[in-house]
Amino acid sequence: MAPKDDRDTPQRFSVSRRDFLKTTGISSLAASVAGVADAEAQTGTARALGPGEVPVQLMVNGKRLDLRIEPRVTLLDAVRTRADLTGNKRVCDRGTCGACTMIVDGRTVYACSTLAIDVQGKQIRTVDGLASGGKLHPVQQAFCDKDALMCGFCTPGFVMASVGLLEKHPNATPEQIKKGLDGNICRCGTFSRVFEAVSSVSASKGVQRG
Ligand code: FES
Ligand code: FES
Repeated sequence: MAPKDDRDTPQRFSVSRRDFLKTTGISSLAASVAGVADAEAQTGTARALGPGEVPVQLMVNGKRLDLRIEPRVTLLDAVRTRADLTGNKRVCDRGTCGACTMIVDGRTVYACSTLAIDVQGKQIRTVDGLASGGKLHPVQQAFCDKDALMCGFCTPGFVMASVGLLEKHPNATPEQIKKGLDGNICRCGTFSRVFEAVSSVSASKGVQRG
């Protein structure tokens, strides 16, 4: 799974998300894959999956999805094209913009850089599942109230990153908000209104701790 955040949201590292993806992520992933391969080779349990479709079961927004997909399919593609949950957007498709941000077992991740097959058995949350009973999530409402979007392509990712942040830090400071959202990019330049929206939820304590 591709780690997305480093300080204020649940999956934490001591370097920025982009630095992690550029350096540590690559080397630790290689070490991890090599370690698993070694262990499997020693125990004789290694088995190949794919390249054709394999059964993959995902829990998305509390509902079970039984899919048949190739192991190379990302979480973002699986959810958007197989489950018709198109709230989270594909923008860069390479783990740099945050538009695809989802929450997996309480941790924000870049869904475009996470394999669906790797998140089986985990609770996956997308922006599509935030509203309930016809009522927007407090973070979604705050983005509307503060007019914190223009084209809106980055917005689902910002909303999910904000939810992840506030579930961990319900009273996040401006500095925590800034750091918690540093893996998300808005090309329209709505940052100040996004920060204002998240601060308003933070101040009103509108999000339960996750
Ligand atoms: S679309 Fe996933 S990080 Fe940009
Ligand atoms: S509102 Fe257009 S990219 Fe953020």
